[in-house]
Amino acid sequence: FRQDKCVVGPGRPRIMTKTIRLDKYLTDCRTGSRSEVKNHIRKGLVSVNGATCTDPATHIRTSDHVTLDGRMVEYKQHVYYMLNKPAGYVSATKDAKDRTVLDLFPEELRSRLFPVGRLDKDSVGLLIICDDGELSHALTSPTTHTEKKYLIRTDEALDDSDIAAFYNGITLADGSRLKSAKLEPDEEDRCCALVTISEGKYHQIKRMIASRGKKVTYLKRISMGNLVLDPKLGEGCYRELTDEEIEDLR
Ligand code: URA
Repeated sequence: FRQDKCVVGPGRPRIMTKTIRLDKYLTDCRTGSRSEVKNHIRKGLVSVNGATCTDPATHIRTSDHVTLDGRMVEYKQHVYYMLNKPAGYVSATKDAKDRTVLDLFPEELRSRLFPVGRLDKDSVGLLIICDDGELSHALTSPTTHTEKKYLIRTDEALDDSDIAAFYNGITLADGSRLKSAKLEPDEEDRCCALVTISEGKYHQIKRMIASRGKKVTYLKRISMGNLVLDPKLGEGCYRELTDEEIEDLR
């Protein structure tokens, strides 16, 4: 049985369990709304460590063995997905005119989910979708500098002066000065490159390339921190993150 994981101090994972009400345990695990869960418990459908428990207010440990209708319910406070975002979807939970990345998830998974950071409507690739505000803040806060890698295509060949400008820190058209970034053009096709940045400003890469008098025609995020886009995920597809991937993001 998987135990609740918790990080104590900078990047030091430790396994711990906590005590919560049985009805909260079951709603955290998305087995139903609070009232549905209470009904299940009162009807005697829930057991804890082999014994039927009919009181929703019973306090249990997240490491306890809980079953609902005979099926084990593993404790997960949060859910985390890796989405390979296709073009044409906005990174938002709601939008008046465009489809959002949440439209790629079935209705029953959508509640509480949101994208971590954003990719432009026409950008593709790695987007984390989760319900963990703390992790989202840690990854996107301007003070954490999560490294992100992108594959880009441009309308004109990228040259050594572009590489140097990225390295020295680009100044955008609005005067804001960016941190040093890495531009690694493909030797065989200088219109393609790998870009590594550690900030997350609006349209950042498009504006960096625009400051060099060139235009981004394709942009795909391939990694965020230690998390790498699963090459088996087609555009528009998603999968849950593994426990290791979640730990590595913290
Ligand atoms: N930089 C951009 O310009 N667009 C994105 O979607 C991501 C990074």
